[in-house]
Amino acid sequence: MKLNALPRVRLANLPTPLQELPNLTKALKGPRIYVKRDDLTGLALGGNKTRKLEYLMADAIAKKADHIVTGAGFHSNWCTQAAAAARKLGMEITLIKTGPGEDYKPEEYDGNHLLHTLMGAEMQIVRPENFKKALDETVESLKESGHTPYVLLDAGSTPLGVAGYINAMLELESQSREIGVDFNYLVHATGSGGTQAGLVLGAKALSLDTKIIGASTGGRKALEQVENVYRVISEASRALGLNISVHKEDVIVKDEYAGSGYGFVTEGKIEAVRMAAETEGLILDPVYTATSMACLVDLCRKGFFTKSDSVVFLHTGGSAGLFPYRDCFKAYALGESLPWTIPPWSPASKNPKTE
Ligand SMILES: Cc1ncc(COP(=O)(O)O)c(C=O)c1O
Repeated sequence: MKLNALPRVRLANLPTPLQELPNLTKALKGPRIYVKRDDLTGLALGGNKTRKLEYLMADAIAKKADHIVTGAGFHSNWCTQAAAAARKLGMEITLIKTGPGEDYKPEEYDGNHLLHTLMGAEMQIVRPENFKKALDETVESLKESGHTPYVLLDAGSTPLGVAGYINAMLELESQSREIGVDFNYLVHATGSGGTQAGLVLGAKALSLDTKIIGASTGGRKALEQVENVYRVISEASRALGLNISVHKEDVIVKDEYAGSGYGFVTEGKIEAVRMAAETEGLILDPVYTATSMACLVDLCRKGFFTKSDSVVFLHTGGSAGLFPYRDCFKAYALGESLPWTIPPWSPASKNPKTE
């Protein structure tokens, strides 16, 4: 494996802590539950993308980039982490963010959008079908004005980004040896797929029996996400020259916890966020870690794990995403029905300005 030879810029405080969750374990009457705190990577508000960016930004530096161009959803954690990395390394950043319409203006500056604004990111809001055009035009116009743009695609789920999560698995294995626990399962949120790809590759490289369960966050159904993660694994293996044999069956995806779309709200997710906060003071986000915790809770309740199993929950960050969902959490706390399940900033939402 060429991992050690890859250029890397230090952005994360590593290793992130591995902690036991005894109260959650008790509440769920199931396996021993631990958490790997990748929400504490230390870049901006932390999260899984810091590990990917260590390799991606090293490549941007090597290519003498002065302006990062990337994009994702309106309240994207990826955009926050990419903007923080760019700023820390003295670069400009443009974010192409998808929303309900080109003229979408939020009622309030909140959550990740507020953080993007604070970091002085240039921003364009576009419909998803116009994303590529906007990205290409931005790159062209930066080049014309003498800049050296560097494009970060697919929320960092490209070979260099995957390297970050192969490393994370090596780190977790060393921590688990220290505390003498062999993890039977790791549960985490899977979106663009790079995190799961790196974890699966890392587990295979170390011949671990840990099964990696990705809870899909609504963008893809299970079979589609298995294909997607497997593609990311294959591309990373080729590009990084890895000689690790991975089968599609090694990629486990559950798709029943996200609601009917990316960023949508369900009572299961809200309950999961409340449960983690109430039992362990562990703050999750409503989009990603709520989905993976809802998955963990449900699998415990269904008796999927045995009592002697040890399960690690990978906290992938995203806490800034909590605040734009405050009305839903308030309604849940008051026992009222949820005011909305499709966020107003989702492309699936109706934009009153374009009606
Ligand atoms: C908080 C959080 N968790 C998990 C993920 C999913 O990671 P990946 O896109 O590598 O599948 C993301 C992606 O944006 C995220 O922001």
